[in-house]
Amino acid sequence: MKGDIGVIGLAVMGQNLILNMNDHGFTVVAHNRTTSKVDEFLAGPAKDTNIIGAYSLEELVEKLEKPRKVMLMVRAGSVVDAFIDQLAPLLDEGDIIIDGGNTNYPDTNRRVASLKEKGIHFIGTGVSGGEEGARFGPSIMPGGSPQAWPAVKPIFQAISAKTDAGEPCCDWVGNDGAGHFVKMVHNGIEYGDMQLITEAYQFMKDGLGLSHEEMQQTFSDWNKTELNSYLIEITADILGYKDEDGSPLVEKILDTAGQKGTGKWTGINALDLGIPLTLISESVFARCLSALKEQRVAAEAQFGKAIEKVSGDKQEWLDALRQALLASKIISYAQGFMLMREASDENGWELNYGNVALMWRGGCIIRSAFLGNIRDAYDANPELAFLGSDPYFKGILDNCLAAWRKVAAKSLEAGIPMPCTTSALTFLDGYTTARLPANLLQAQRDYFGAHTYERVDRPRGEFFHTNWTGTGGDTASTTYDV
Ligand code: 6PG
Repeated sequence: MKGDIGVIGLAVMGQNLILNMNDHGFTVVAHNRTTSKVDEFLAGPAKDTNIIGAYSLEELVEKLEKPRKVMLMVRAGSVVDAFIDQLAPLLDEGDIIIDGGNTNYPDTNRRVASLKEKGIHFIGTGVSGGEEGARFGPSIMPGGSPQAWPAVKPIFQAISAKTDAGEPCCDWVGNDGAGHFVKMVHNGIEYGDMQLITEAYQFMKDGLGLSHEEMQQTFSDWNKTELNSYLIEITADILGYKDEDGSPLVEKILDTAGQKGTGKWTGINALDLGIPLTLISESVFARCLSALKEQRVAAEAQFGKAIEKVSGDKQEWLDALRQALLASKIISYAQGFMLMREASDENGWELNYGNVALMWRGGCIIRSAFLGNIRDAYDANPELAFLGSDPYFKGILDNCLAAWRKVAAKSLEAGIPMPCTTSALTFLDGYTTARLPANLLQAQRDYFGAHTYERVDRPRGEFFHTNWTGTGGDTASTTYDV
């Protein structure tokens, strides 16, 4: 019997995806560069299953049904290229290579194009949900060669997470690197959600002086509101977790955050496309700032910094904090979807935003009830430019605004760093201001560099230069925007 799909890479994600595929009745051929891992897998987790081992790429290819589907679950970057180079000569036209790693989407664009010349289809897919997701139902975001989708669809949709209504959290995202792009934005949003939660935690702990039991309870309570999500749920668990000596383990963890790059790529992409993705970018910088541990320790001593206690009714503050978190989260997703729209237009991907929200509804790290509402918003209006304008989300923003301002102002007064919560509010203030001070900025640019400006009393597209000092010339520099 031949295999339905081959998987290369037997680290935890690869193994768990294979076991998941096997559970759903697919025959999987498993390969790993260090072949002893194949034996260990077959004798261990894959014992008494239909999983077949392959000790070389030739054997893997030989054991697969046509069109062959080979999924790489290896480290993103040069390792993927190396496997593609070895695999391609062994494959036939119409066969499919799938990359399930956290690849930067321009690499996927390149691979789709170069394999197309050889008649081989390539899919770059986001897979989210960590070890457990891979084993029991991840969110899967495939994009690449559309011809490959019908062959892969039954496998991916079977193994993916399902919404409460039974819909698979997996659908075709779009051409080229669209799947990896959407996974990248997912991860950026993941960074933002996590940072917002940590800001609320610091406000509770250092501002309000809450105990870990109280904080655990608060996050559990929040999980029963619109904030219901995997990340809020695990935060409650983490805050309740005790180390061997009975004290909260979280306080023994060094406060320097790591990162593998997907949040950074999201920020870089936003800068490239000119989208004000402030919240996710702040969350990346917050991780960078956290990494400067020694400098921060020295600076705290030098500046005599101390966070002021926040006085007043704790329950009232906690409710305000919940509203600030919820409203900020809306801004983060609104910005993320703005970025996706711009990238979709730029690359001709025709992303379906309702479908993206559906794919994130279950299985992935940012899964939440909230994504169901986002899906409804884009299904109702696929052209929605700003998520906050959807009636449901606008209602929340309106209701939360006063509490959000109160928390943001208090954080600044008390010295509690809340870059994402405050910048989200600043973004909304900017976005809802018809006239910003950029007129002055344009005047400055024209003053020192003859960069020209447009006028409110003349049609757009007419450019003017003023000789501001009387000593400058009348010659304007060329007008172009990047
Ligand atoms: C997922 C996650 C995952 C990511 C980790 C680590 O969707 O399952 O996004 O893909 O690799 O969250 O990311 P950082 O190391 O950058 O925090």
